[in-house]
Amino acid sequence: MRSLIVGTGSYSPAKVVTNADLEKLVDTTDQWIVERTGIRERHIAAPEEATSDLALHAARKALDQAGLDPKDVEMIAMGTVTADMPWPAAAAVLQGRLGNKKAFAFDVSAACAGSLYSLSIADQFIRSGRVKNALVLGADTLTRITDWTDRNTCILFGDGAGAMVLRPTDDDRRGVQSLHLHTDGALWPILHMPGGGSRNPISQKVVDEKSHYVKMNGREVYKVAVRALEESCREALGANGMTPGDVDFVIAHQANKRILDSTLERLGIPASKCWMNLEKYGNTSAASVPTTLDEAARAGWFTPGCSILVMAIGGGMAWGAGIIRW
Ligand code: UT7
Repeated sequence: MRSLIVGTGSYSPAKVVTNADLEKLVDTTDQWIVERTGIRERHIAAPEEATSDLALHAARKALDQAGLDPKDVEMIAMGTVTADMPWPAAAAVLQGRLGNKKAFAFDVSAACAGSLYSLSIADQFIRSGRVKNALVLGADTLTRITDWTDRNTCILFGDGAGAMVLRPTDDDRRGVQSLHLHTDGALWPILHMPGGGSRNPISQKVVDEKSHYVKMNGREVYKVAVRALEESCREALGANGMTPGDVDFVIAHQANKRILDSTLERLGIPASKCWMNLEKYGNTSAASVPTTLDEAARAGWFTPGCSILVMAIGGGMAWGAGIIRW
């Protein structure tokens, strides 16, 4: 038994912020941002839009494509670190908005790797036979926890949501083949949000110190990302008896073009096999992988049974890679 992706959907908020717009906010240039990251613009949620609102659009598109009534979804797993409120889960809010009463719904906190973690959890439920209709999402509004005076971070992020519907298949040559997840919790200080949790509850001090925003050591994250992604991709390939030459397509978390280029180069996979969209969305955290998958699928990239190498890394540090056969 495997989990087959039978529907995908994604949503990007309407408002676009270009690099030229950011030049007016911080000491940066379009040229620096494009050369160092590959990003040209990003979409930003409207003031009244929260993460579950973005997720709702993506979920409806994926469910429509799957031909599945929202009421029949049995589980909802959402990767996010920017739920509508600290709790309940954004997935629970989404379940209510879908008019669904059947699904157990929960958020997964693995930052940019959140949708891969969620996919892996849903895959286990499908393989065990416990669930037949799973909705998996990655949705984030990182711009709500972005310090718009910090040029090290504010140029990177955008908002968005992506969704996948999973159903079981008896055809072992299709569906999720394996996903390999990793965490190195000693590394959390290089990418985190220090304020607003139980260690530093919301207070005037937290706000004054801007602790309610993303803190990142970009150089360290970059180094860890290239090493961790290469290792976990090799692990995923090995587990499936594959070499890099057997990979038809790559769907990767869109963090930085240079990170992806060097990971693919180390693996010996042509960059042309990797769907890129960070130029227009920036880093949308957990939304990135399912949004990228949705775009590539709707563009007609995939044929049944083709092999897709997936990979993501984010705060935690949390990362993973895997092989999906369409
Ligand atoms: O999903 C995971 C999330 N995070 C990431 O993926 C981030 C991974 N890291 C990166 O993508 C890169 O490290 C960055 C794009 C964040 C930074 O690129 P870099 O090539 O590592 O630059 P750097 O941090 O080494 O900084 C180089 C210079 C510094 O100036 P000095 O110290 O050499 O004078 C920075 O102050 O660039 C400066 N700089 C900027 N200049 C113009 C940093 N940010 C900017 C900016 N515009 N926005």
